[in-house]
Amino acid sequence: MINVQSQFCKNADAYESYSIIQKKVVKKLLEKIVDNPQCILDIGCGSGTVYKSMAWHPKKFVAIDFAQGMLNMHPKNENVELHMSDFNQKGFLKKFADYQFERIISSSALQWGDDLDDIFGQISLLGAPVSLAIFTSGTFKTLLKTASIPPLLRSADEIIALSKRYFNAEHEVLEYSLEFASVRDMFRYMKKSGVGGGRNVLGIKQMRELIRNYPLNYLEFEIVLLQEKNYGE
Ligand SMILES: C[S@@+](CC[C@H](N)C(=O)[O-])C[C@H]1O[C@@H](n2cnc3c(N)ncnc32)[C@H](O)[C@@H]1O
Repeated sequence: MINVQSQFCKNADAYESYSIIQKKVVKKLLEKIVDNPQCILDIGCGSGTVYKSMAWHPKKFVAIDFAQGMLNMHPKNENVELHMSDFNQKGFLKKFADYQFERIISSSALQWGDDLDDIFGQISLLGAPVSLAIFTSGTFKTLLKTASIPPLLRSADEIIALSKRYFNAEHEVLEYSLEFASVRDMFRYMKKSGVGGGRNVLGIKQMRELIRNYPLNYLEFEIVLLQEKNYGE
């Protein structure tokens, strides 16, 4: 169990401090990449957690995101190439067809893919091993149940089954819980962390009711990791 208050750094940028879980997920994802790939694509790069967490310096790091504000926060140098691009647009990876990626990473982003089948298909066409971390329907599961809201995200089983059509990936399901001092803090976190994907699924009345009835002092998260070995391994 992670305690939010103990982890928040008062002076850190809001997004950075609210992304505790995303940081843990990136760490897990990178742990399994042992061949120091030199040309990397990061889909839904955000402010650069993947790039900043890497223990090696790749020759080329191509990072894409549809939010200019996020790209602005991403580290920049001569090895980093930033592109504003929306993974829900058909053919969003076409412009990278000539790149020789050695690994394709996406962490905590593809749960917002409208057509994951199409996105996986596009990724697989680039011909590089993948490391993908995707939030699943187990995220906020008690909260959604308490508010009688159907799951917003795909289940781990669904994602794993879909991945088998395109990748030869090992999978692991991670579960985290994040403890809060009050339910109010918990909702503030959800709003600011970006985990909710900016979706406002509750009206004020429903929200008040949920604050009264939520039985836990923590939020639940579930993430599926899909990792392909380097094809040469
Ligand atoms: C929760 S953040 C994760 C950021 C980073 N990968 C990390 O692990 O910290 C999700 C990111 O996905 C981006 N994103 C969401 N939907 C997207 C889309 N349709 N196309 C491109 N990027 C998208 C958001 O702008 C955000 O930066």
